[in-house]
Amino acid sequence: MRNKKSELRNPKSEIRKPDLSVDFAGIRFKNPVLTASGTFGYGEEYADFVDLNKLGGLIVKGVSLKPIKGNPAPRIWETPSGMLNAIGLENPGVEVFIKKKMPYLRKFDTAVIVNVFGYSSEEYVGVVERLDNVPGVSGLEVNISCPNVKAGGMAFGTDVKATFELLSLVRKATKLPLIAKLSPNVTDVTEFARAARDAGCNGLSLINTLLGMAIDVTCRKPRLANCTGGLSGPAIRPVAVRMVWQTAKAVSLPIIGMGGIVTAEDALEFILAGASAVAVGTANFVNPRATLDVVEGIESFMFEQSIPSIRDVVGKVATA
Ligand SMILES: Cc1cc2nc3c(=O)[nH]c(=O)nc-3n(C[C@H](O)[C@H](O)[C@H](O)COP(=O)(O)O)c2cc1C
Repeated sequence: MRNKKSELRNPKSEIRKPDLSVDFAGIRFKNPVLTASGTFGYGEEYADFVDLNKLGGLIVKGVSLKPIKGNPAPRIWETPSGMLNAIGLENPGVEVFIKKKMPYLRKFDTAVIVNVFGYSSEEYVGVVERLDNVPGVSGLEVNISCPNVKAGGMAFGTDVKATFELLSLVRKATKLPLIAKLSPNVTDVTEFARAARDAGCNGLSLINTLLGMAIDVTCRKPRLANCTGGLSGPAIRPVAVRMVWQTAKAVSLPIIGMGGIVTAEDALEFILAGASAVAVGTANFVNPRATLDVVEGIESFMFEQSIPSIRDVVGKVATA
């Protein structure tokens, strides 16, 4: 798995140009590599490092109906092969997103998926309705890992019934392709995948962060002001690959796989497990070009193995 461009021109390869394009729930990605929500801002923040036209798609930072300030600091803590974050879904709100962020994103020939969330089903429906006819929005990714404030604070995405009810309401509020982003903090992720399918979602994203905690033993305080946070990065990758594999066997919806992807080889693990596309998250903080390295590495792999289309790899893990 090498990334150098010169090696892409493998003279022995039986194919001239591998086809990396993906049709995902009616959205065309020119390659299967997207940015994971919350780790790439609204694209502009990374534009000095990455030609956004070369990405398969951009999943932007979560957007809510009203602006949210987020949690107090410290909000990030590095852990072995990963990080804990408790940003608290800070964002400027949907109106500012539409007026200030979308005009920039529309300049690129890259699919834009808007990640949405709320603290009540009304808030979810409100933000989704507002985005429904906004030019340049290709689809919506619904982050269901938010506490349902009205129902005592349990996350929508850890209760199958609440997941189904929320996604059914959101479905009625938009014609855009809907991608449900599933939480890994559940016993059986496939129950939630079925609930999303039954509610009318067109695709799935998995996984979101795993709930974690770290403690400073000297002052006996949690490392994060919020006490707990979401664990991401390579530490969670085997959990994520397993969940994608289980989900791909359980439902026929297309999947965006994510969780600890750093290299093309990591991304290919997800694709072999059944993901049609992948998203790179925490790796962007270490290497801002990580997404493009992954695209080039996948293309290199396809040349080396004479694979005509990335679609030929999806779900092709050889299990007994
Ligand atoms: C700092 C940070 C902010 C995030 N913000 C969001 C968000 O707004 N909405 C969302 O659905 N997921 C969010 N995520 C989760 C990521 O999109 C991704 O699902 C998760 O981090 C696993 O991928 P990774 O290990 O490659 O980072 C965030 C993750 C991080 C690290």
